[in-house]
Amino acid sequence: MRRGPDGIWQVSGYEEARAVLRATATVQAGLGIETVEKLPSRFRRPVLYRDGPEHREDRRQTARFFTPRRVDEHYREVMVEAAEAQLDTVRETGRGHLACLSFQLAIEVASAVIGLTESRPGIRARLERFFPEKFGTPGLTSLHGIRWLVRQNSNWLRVYWGDVRPAVRARRRRRRDDLISHLLDEGCSSGEILGECLTFAAAGMVTTREFVNVAAWHLFGDATLLTRYRAADEPGRIAILQEILRLEPVIGRLRRRTTAPLRLPGDGRDPGAEVTVPAGELVDILLHRANLDARTVGERPERLCPGRPMATGAGAPGLSFGDGAHKCPGATIALLETDVFLSRLFALPGIHMAAPPGVGFKDGIDSYELRGCTVVLTGRA
Ligand code: HEM
Repeated sequence: MRRGPDGIWQVSGYEEARAVLRATATVQAGLGIETVEKLPSRFRRPVLYRDGPEHREDRRQTARFFTPRRVDEHYREVMVEAAEAQLDTVRETGRGHLACLSFQLAIEVASAVIGLTESRPGIRARLERFFPEKFGTPGLTSLHGIRWLVRQNSNWLRVYWGDVRPAVRARRRRRRDDLISHLLDEGCSSGEILGECLTFAAAGMVTTREFVNVAAWHLFGDATLLTRYRAADEPGRIAILQEILRLEPVIGRLRRRTTAPLRLPGDGRDPGAEVTVPAGELVDILLHRANLDARTVGERPERLCPGRPMATGAGAPGLSFGDGAHKCPGATIALLETDVFLSRLFALPGIHMAAPPGVGFKDGIDSYELRGCTVVLTGRA
């Protein structure tokens, strides 16, 4: 735990990171909070940007959409259908672009949870535009800023007209068992529902796309690991995926602001040293470093070792799904859909990687973006 020259505290030990994420005297301060801060105060914030009792109540009410039983009974079929549809294109053409296949998969699965099921054609293109590889800074003081302002506003509208409005209209007529119906019952406006849908798109679609790519890349590049993955049952395969995610957290950095003095244990090198972060300070939680903390994840933390014994209370993917109040509700969904897709991809006879992905980075959240990985079927390319 240390305070950087920019005044922001940085936590890289596992126990300390988890303690910050579990602390109640903190609020969300990352993942695009600046966009939400500009909204009028009466506008209901998407779940990621809420805190305290209203956030807890929100999570309590939506928890039923994410239970393992629900995932198995409601979403597994969607995952299998979406995965098979993507793999059909590989079977037919002999090749496929993993970033496209995995994005379509992630969109269909998260859309089923949200209730975005009446979309006009082109949802993938609309979301690709909304989450471009490079972001400009919208503003009114330069041509570049104005261009981005117009572009971002038109992107909001496209998703609204193409996806959210048709879904909301259908559910105003007849409620279903999904998130949008729940938000309507809560009295949310269409704008608020749009905000929540785009939060889920970023949290559930963009992340899962990257994870499928990184996991496939590991498996294509490590023959022993791939043999083990192919031979394992579902829990065994998921343990492999969790270990990959520990080493390659899709979101590598979270941020909180303290609302009261926050006392944390020392950084382990000096066990007696406690640190107190004053109220009103920013704290960066470095998940990629915390996940390599040997005190929690055991010896040779940088090695991929599925099923490694972890210290009591630590989960197999480390802190890659976060912890505390904002812990990812979609973890079971993400792992299962990745496995449903990859186990089928790697069962295709003659499948191999023709081109590895290029790696881009998203600085603010220490994330990666893998594009250009091409898979081919031998004899068909
Ligand atoms: C491998 C894929 C995924 C990764 C790595 C991931 C990671 C995370 C992390 C680290 C957070 C915590 C953010 C914070 O504490 O500030 C989070 C929150 C969240 N995730 Fe995921 N996620 C994934 C997939 C999903 C899926 C599939 C869904 C839904 C279908 C989802 C929905 C959410 C939501 C709604 C939140 C906000 C929860 C809250 O603020 O209370 N995620 N995710």
